[in-house]
Amino acid sequence: MRPVVETVDLTKTYGNATVVDKLNLRIEEGDIFGFLGPNGAGKTTTILMLLGLTEPTSGVARICGYNSTREPLKVKRLSGYVPEKVGFYEDLTAAYNLAYTARLNGFSEELVMKRVGEALDVVGLSEVVGQRVQEFSRGMKQRLAIADILIKMPKVAFLDEPTAGIDPEGVKEMLGLIARIAKERKMTVILSSHQLPQVQQICNCVGILIKGRMVVEGKLDQLGRETFGGGRFRVEIQLAETTSALVNCIKQIKGVIGVERSGDLLLVSCQADLRPQIAKAIVDNNGLLVQMKIQSYALEDIYMKYFSEA
Ligand SMILES: Nc1ncnc2c1ncn2[C@@H]1O[C@H](COP(=O)(O)OP(=O)(O)O)[C@@H](O)[C@H]1O
Ligand SMILES: [Mg+2]
Repeated sequence: MRPVVETVDLTKTYGNATVVDKLNLRIEEGDIFGFLGPNGAGKTTTILMLLGLTEPTSGVARICGYNSTREPLKVKRLSGYVPEKVGFYEDLTAAYNLAYTARLNGFSEELVMKRVGEALDVVGLSEVVGQRVQEFSRGMKQRLAIADILIKMPKVAFLDEPTAGIDPEGVKEMLGLIARIAKERKMTVILSSHQLPQVQQICNCVGILIKGRMVVEGKLDQLGRETFGGGRFRVEIQLAETTSALVNCIKQIKGVIGVERSGDLLLVSCQADLRPQIAKAIVDNNGLLVQMKIQSYALEDIYMKYFSEA
C-alpha cells in the first residue's frame, strides 16, 4: 500500500546546522502519528517540507505519492495544515473567517455555506458562529483552525502543537475531537508535540525526533519491546492457584530475571518473550494457567530513555 506520508532521506540544513537529518518516514492511511520531540528537534521544519512550504536541502518528501517540492499544488489540495500560531481575521466572525477560506478554495456560494456550517458543527463552535474571533480563547481558536482545514476535506492533516497553551480540560477536548474527526473522515493525522503523555492517548504510531534524527519510530504497541529488546520484557501470569513450587520452577527458566507476586498475579521479568517456556513449566508442574500476557513498556519510558541520551 502506498503511504499517505513518505520521506526518503529528507534533510534540511541551515548554514552549518543540520536540523533535519536523513529522515525516513512512512505513515499509512488512517494513522494518527504522534510526531514527538523536544523544542528545536526539527518537527516544524519537517512539516513545512512535507507541505511544500520549505525546500529540502536533499532527499524527498511525498504526500499520497506526490512530490512536495515538485507538485506543491497537488500536495496542498490533499493536505490540511494547522500551524503552531494560528492566524485569523480577529475582528471578523468565525463564520466569516471560514467562508473566506472556502471561497479561496473556489467553492460555490451554496457549498461555502454548507461546508462552513458542517465544519463549525464538528468542532463544537456552532453557537458562536457570529462572534468575533478576538473574543475566542486559545482553545476555541485552535478548534476554529481545525474547522478551517475540514472545509476542503483533506486526506491528511498536519497539526503542529495543537495542544500548546491550552488548559488540561481543553486539551482533553481537543484530543478527543482530533481522534473523532480522524475516524469519521478517514483522515490521516500528523500531530506534533513535545508533550508526550497527551499524545500517547490518541496516537496509534509515533516517531521521536531528537536533533533532527528519528530515534524511534513505529506502532505504539510494538515499540516498547523493540526499543528495550533483549532484556526488558514482563510477562503477567494468572494461575488458578499460586504455589511456591510453581514460582520456583518459573524462576529456574533460563532467561528469567525475577518473579514477583502482585495480588493473584505473577509478574515475571525476563530477557526475552518466554511465554512458551513459562506455559510449559506451569503445565509440567500441574499448575492451572488462567491467563498470561506480555507487557510492553509505556511510551513514556521510551521517551525518557532517549531524552536522557540526547
Ligand atoms: N528559517 C530558519 N533559519 C535558521 N534556522 C532555523 C530556521 N527554522 C528553524 N531553524 C532551526 O532549526 C531547528 C529546528 O527547528 P524547528 O523545526 O522549529 O523545531 P521544532 O518544531 O521541533 O521545535 C531549530 O534549532 C531552529 O532554530
Ligand atoms: Mg515546532
